[in-house]
Amino acid sequence: MASVSYFFIAVVFIFGCCSNAQLSPKFYASTCPNLETIVRRAMTESVIKELRIGASILRLFFHDCFVNGCDASILLDDTPTFTGEKNAFPNQNSARGFEVIDTIKTHILALAARDGVVLLGGPYWTVPLGRRDARTASQSDANTQIPAPFSDIATLTANFASKGLDAEDMTVLVGAHTLGYAQCANFRSHIYNDTNIDPIFANFRKIGCPASGGDSKLAPFDATPVTFDNDYYKSLVGRRGLLHSDQEFFNNGPQDSLVTTYSRDNAAWRSDFAESMVKMGNISPLTGTQGEIRGNCRFRN
Ligand code: HEM
Ligand SMILES: *[C@@H]1O[C@H](CO)[C@@H](O)[C@H](O)[C@H]1NC(C)=O
Repeated sequence: MASVSYFFIAVVFIFGCCSNAQLSPKFYASTCPNLETIVRRAMTESVIKELRIGASILRLFFHDCFVNGCDASILLDDTPTFTGEKNAFPNQNSARGFEVIDTIKTHILALAARDGVVLLGGPYWTVPLGRRDARTASQSDANTQIPAPFSDIATLTANFASKGLDAEDMTVLVGAHTLGYAQCANFRSHIYNDTNIDPIFANFRKIGCPASGGDSKLAPFDATPVTFDNDYYKSLVGRRGLLHSDQEFFNNGPQDSLVTTYSRDNAAWRSDFAESMVKMGNISPLTGTQGEIRGNCRFRN
């Protein structure tokens, strides 16, 4: 009898312990049973219009989560009396996909990001739901807490660790760069000045990214920018990483062996990616009565 009640207490303790205990895949099961269908339909329409949008929404979710948790703070517009995160250095003229989120609703960034990945061939995962919306945002935290493309592996690792994501999570998640594009200003110094780069690749990228000017010209991260595959990791092994930060993951350093593994084992990476996305989505959510549920995702109520 005693052991039974100890077991019961242990169960309550384990399930009652965590700050994200209230996120649940069934959060909207009775209040909005069609939520997943609604989001999937909106994402499907958007991705058909522009394949890249799946990448852009995935990145929005990442940039939201890394600034004081996954609380939709990135969606808030600047107003004369409020400074949000949209004009922080990593987001300005770079973060995109806000119009798609307008058409759905704010607290489903996590679902929209998952659907974008799925629609471009990526793995499915069950999304814990119930994140409420922040009433605050921080441009300065967005400037300092979103990883920079000029960082080295030690800085990146510390940055992810500060969000509760270990080095394996980081190396798995950066594989998101199998989708999408970067602007010349973010990879210019890598292709012109870095030594850990395939010279043929560097010369090829210089054609689309002059030594000066053309800051916003785009290049894909890997050879298949609208297909979710492990080509990104093959590029790193071939020293064809686009950003300085990308190549840091294969630079005679601590992440080389995991990058090699993923370059050879697409299935392993896909299942690890799904797992780490759930972990990223659990960074300091607002739950219960915290924050609010915005009527318009661009503004506080
Ligand atoms: C290791 C740290 C990371 C750094 C330094 C980094 C940096 C960047 C930069 C500079 C761009 C190009 C932005 C532009 O030129 O406009 C970019 C694009 C992108 N990032 Fe990352 N990133 C990192 C990790 C991640 C993670 C963890 C995810 C998601 C899980 C992600 C998803 C994306 C996607 C999908 C794009 C393409 C967006 C588009 O085409 O619209 N990144 N990243
Ligand atoms: C490459 O490095 C040189 C010397 O530090 C610097 O003058 C130049 O601006 C750099 N070029 C690019 C494209 O970053």
